[in-house]
Amino acid sequence: MTDARTQTFRSIPLFAELSDDALARLVDIATEADAKAGQVLIEARREASGMFVIEEGTVVVETHDRKIELGPGDFVGEMALLTGDQRSARVQARTDVRFLAIARGDFEKVLADEPRLAIPMLRTLAKRLAAMD
Ligand code: CMP
Repeated sequence: MTDARTQTFRSIPLFAELSDDALARLVDIATEADAKAGQVLIEARREASGMFVIEEGTVVVETHDRKIELGPGDFVGEMALLTGDQRSARVQARTDVRFLAIARGDFEKVLADEPRLAIPMLRTLAKRLAAMD
C-alpha cells in the first residue's frame, strides 16, 4: 500500500478519506494518461466515457458563458456520469496534463463500493450547477 501510485492517489483530496482497501481498488481501476496542451479531453454535448482527475497541469472548462481553469486535484467529467445527460461543457488541456481516468462502467461500482467518495463530489457538483444558472 505504499507504492508510488498509491501515494499519488492518496495525495488527491477527492480520495483522501477513502479506506486503504477502497483506494487499492481504485488504483486497480483507474488508468493514468497524458494529454498535450490544446488537446480536448471532453467535447460538449457528447456521451460521457468517464471522469478525469487532474494530477499535473491545467485544463480550461468552457461553458456557454465562461472559461474556468482547473488544476491538480480538480476533477472533470463527473456531471454527465451522475446525470446521465450529455457533456455540459468542453474541457481542453491548457498545458500538458497528466490525469487519472475512471471509465463510465467503473464509476458506479466505485461509488457503490465507497459512497464517501460522493460527498466531496456532490459539494463540487452543487457549486458547478449553481454557477451555471
Ligand atoms: P461533464 O458535464 O461530464 O463534462 C464537462 C465537465 O466540465 C463537467 O462534467 C464538469 O466536470 C466540468 N464543469 C462544468 N461546469 C463547470 C463549472 N462551472 N466549473 C467547473 N467545472 C465545470
